Amino acid sequence: MPTVFICEAGWEAALADELRRTLPGPSACELDALPEGRVVVKSEPRADAAASAPIVAFASQVLPDAEPCAAASISQWADAVCERISARLDQASTPWRLHVFATPFADGSTGAGRTKLVRDALVAKLREVRRRLLRRMNEAAEDAWLPGEALVQVLLTSPTEGFVSIAEEESRRAWRYCLSPFVGGMIEPAVDKLAPSRAFAKLVEAELRLGRKIQPGETCVDLGSAPGSWAYTALERGALVTAIDRSPLRDDLMSNPRLTFLKTDAFEYFPSEPVDWLLSDIIAFPDRICELLARWLGERHCRAFCVTVKFRGRDDDAKLESVKDVLRGSGYRFGLRRLTANKNEACAYGEL
Ligand SMILES: C[S@@+](CC[C@H](N)C(=O)[O-])C[C@H]1O[C@@H](n2cnc3c(N)ncnc32)[C@H](O)[C@@H]1O
Repeated sequence: MPTVFICEAGWEAALADELRRTLPGPSACELDALPEGRVVVKSEPRADAAASAPIVAFASQVLPDAEPCAAASISQWADAVCERISARLDQASTPWRLHVFATPFADGSTGAGRTKLVRDALVAKLREVRRRLLRRMNEAAEDAWLPGEALVQVLLTSPTEGFVSIAEEESRRAWRYCLSPFVGGMIEPAVDKLAPSRAFAKLVEAELRLGRKIQPGETCVDLGSAPGSWAYTALERGALVTAIDRSPLRDDLMSNPRLTFLKTDAFEYFPSEPVDWLLSDIIAFPDRICELLARWLGERHCRAFCVTVKFRGRDDDAKLESVKDVLRGSGYRFGLRRLTANKNEACAYGEL
């Protein structure tokens, strides 16, 4: 069965290239990159692909073992998906969650209306014929998985076609760096008109994905801090911020007693004591950010981190492989992905 990777429209080629670099074996070459925000790995990725826990930064979501599905009407969608879920999960005792979403349809519509109808019809069908299975459906927390939880994803690629993927715990763990607990892997970027810039949405999203927020009293080093929206977010949370930049931050932040501003080179700065958070949004070559990350994580100089890796062109994408090596060898629990709030960049986040 194919494996389907979802990305934001326009990022298919970058994702396909990353899959070629990342997935082992010939399967990686048989990619079907479509201009609608998805890449289908057509042949079975070799068994060791998932075993190696691939990190695919340009994928917002993965659908392991995605079974193609065609259904002419909403009720046929509900019947087809109900049958598949029942066959796989009815005898189990584990919880499961349901994501129904779409990649843009050929007519340009988002498919949001139809996915809601499919979801509602499926839940109604389960209530009718599989009440016990429905009772095990987890409709609560988004960010953390329950023990043993399975993920059922229904992807509509057109009103009448799509894929159904059921990832039980083992598969979910194998794809842990790609499989998001958020629907389609997307998080609506946060809005705060008082922040100095929209960049703050990146930090808020990284916190959500990490399942850990900056806490009151925590110490943060914010490298490449100006004009200060990451510092603003950390200060809002009650943290103590050391902000490093060549330019000052917005006036109100500069006068905040919990902020220390140092006009110095962010790559030279390394405090004598470890801090709670390393924040970095420096505009710099990916290699330099990778070295910076290696030093901070290698010396366990932060308990958590959120670091942006920026690309000048697509040639820089492959530099992500070195970042992946640093993260894998770090001993931190981590994620690396292009956030919903990211533009031409990706974000590494993690905690000890
Ligand atoms: C994208 S902006 C940071 C935005 C910030 N996170 C915010 O939310 O407002 C990047 C910053 O990195 C700073 N920068 C780039 N290279 C630097 C270096 N070597 N040392 C210190 N700051 C640097 C730039 O001056 C710029 O202000």
